[in-house]
Amino acid sequence: MPTQPLRITVPAFRDMKQSGTKISVLTAYDYPTARLLDQAGIEAVLVGDSMSMVIQGHHTTLPVTLDEMIYHAEMVGRAVQQALVIVDMPFPTTHLGCHQAIAAAGRILKETGCQAVKLEGGAAQAEVIAALSAAGIPVMAHVGLRPQHVHQMGGYHVQRDQQQLLADARAAEQAGAFSIVLECIPATIAAEITRTLTIPTIGIGAGSDCDGQVLVLHDLLGLTSGYVPRFVRPYADLKNLIHSAVTQFRDDVRQGTFPGADETFR
Ligand code: KIV
Repeated sequence: MPTQPLRITVPAFRDMKQSGTKISVLTAYDYPTARLLDQAGIEAVLVGDSMSMVIQGHHTTLPVTLDEMIYHAEMVGRAVQQALVIVDMPFPTTHLGCHQAIAAAGRILKETGCQAVKLEGGAAQAEVIAALSAAGIPVMAHVGLRPQHVHQMGGYHVQRDQQQLLADARAAEQAGAFSIVLECIPATIAAEITRTLTIPTIGIGAGSDCDGQVLVLHDLLGLTSGYVPRFVRPYADLKNLIHSAVTQFRDDVRQGTFPGADETFR
């Protein structure tokens, strides 16, 4: 009988910090992509609200709805067999009180088969993190640059308030978060937070001393149109690859060389 691959659970993910194993996290929003990430051995797949920008074409992460997050997370949850799957709580589901936050996160876990949620915030969200954790809903916190606050911040800027960042990270851990994303902060502050906390820090634009790294997959694959942040390493150039494949197809159709004999039934 074929054996079921072992799932990376929330405690196993948390324990990776103690064992010193660096953690890789990438975003996915659909079944085939999530399957590829899982087969490649990525430890966690994040159904990020970045979907609002990279999939839906909005200018910020604010428009994506809870129903849309659930629709996509359900595909990802079905595809992934080994990685931990974490789903972003969309704006403003974490700002409507603990009851509403539990209702939203509860829907995510019940309807998608995913294992954890991520929410933006540290100290200001401690009560919500504690309430979700008490309800058995594992929470990844997210401090530093919080894209859902883009209008308040006046853009996407590096966050440098060391005291606030440390306070936010500590508050998230004390409230019960099992891990924390550090976005766009100086590497020295990220290193200090990583030393201070017992839960894994997952950096994005936060230097190499974090316990793990996360990127938006479309940025890494060269699929993003428009601005790509400086902290992204482009591992592939799929935009050009797709462009040349599609123009080749168009040319073949125009010239009548597709379909050929091998692609035709007799
Ligand atoms: O929405 C997202 O993809 C994220 C990552 C960039 C951390 O929050």
